[in-house]
Amino acid sequence: MNVFPENVKFQMLCAALPKPYYGDEACALYHGDARELLPLVPAGTVDLLCTDPPYGVALSDHGSNSIGHSGKRDGGGRGKDHYTVAGDESTELGEWVLDWAARFKLPTAAFASPDKPWPGKWRSRLVWDKGPAVGGGGDTAKCFKRTWELIQVARNGDLRERGEGVLKFWITPAESRYHVCAKPVALMKYLVWQLAPDAGMVLDPFAGSGSTLRGAKDVGCFAVGFELEEKHCRTAAERLTQRVFALPPAEERVLPERFLSEWPAV
Ligand SMILES: C[S@@+](CC[C@H](N)C(=O)[O-])C[C@H]1O[C@@H](n2cnc3c(N)ncnc32)[C@H](O)[C@@H]1O
Repeated sequence: MNVFPENVKFQMLCAALPKPYYGDEACALYHGDARELLPLVPAGTVDLLCTDPPYGVALSDHGSNSIGHSGKRDGGGRGKDHYTVAGDESTELGEWVLDWAARFKLPTAAFASPDKPWPGKWRSRLVWDKGPAVGGGGDTAKCFKRTWELIQVARNGDLRERGEGVLKFWITPAESRYHVCAKPVALMKYLVWQLAPDAGMVLDPFAGSGSTLRGAKDVGCFAVGFELEEKHCRTAAERLTQRVFALPPAEERVLPERFLSEWPAV
């Protein structure tokens, strides 16, 4: 339900939360635990929950035998630490946040492991085709490359346009370096553009390196993120300051051509 104008929602949300790690006119990132921050979010201030929770698949086991973009078995020399995701031991955290969104009937887009989809009622299940530069881990002799992940969508309003269920947004090596689970900003722009209202208020309680926030901001939305690990907050803050746009005029915010031209060719 659209209770407040979007910029008021952003201001109300920020006012209810502690001091942000990073903040600008359209975006705020909080260094903290989603379990403590989410209950502070005032009702009616969020238009879209767009998030990538820890999948509960113990990703650190994957890093030890994966082949990174450099072709090296240590994951491209980034070290085991690069492959560790806080909260990844179980699906509990993600389920808790998605239950919260369901309780408030919030439109939601959530990335998920194909092995452990999120329970509950979902309107669409999308495939994110990550491209050939990933999925080299695991049993390389017997397993097909895992070059895709799930995106589950619930309670959304009308889409801006009828879209395909397979989203080809290939992750670049540069983006993968930001975070082991980094999602392409172009993909996040597309999801937010399809699912959020004009200048809508987007929340990502598992912000990581800030891809959702960056994408939301780039399509003229407001965005708030939470992130537990300071190293990821630092990366996200750097990415969010790279190009701080003044908000484009409303009539320019929703044209797909505007950002289609910036997407990598696939
Ligand atoms: C799958 S990653 C998100 C990656 C992100 N989509 C990106 O493009 O960089 C999940 C993130 O949730 C964070 N996280 C784990 N537990 C958390 C918690 N209790 N509160 C907030 N963030 C948490 C992790 O540190 C990790 O960065």
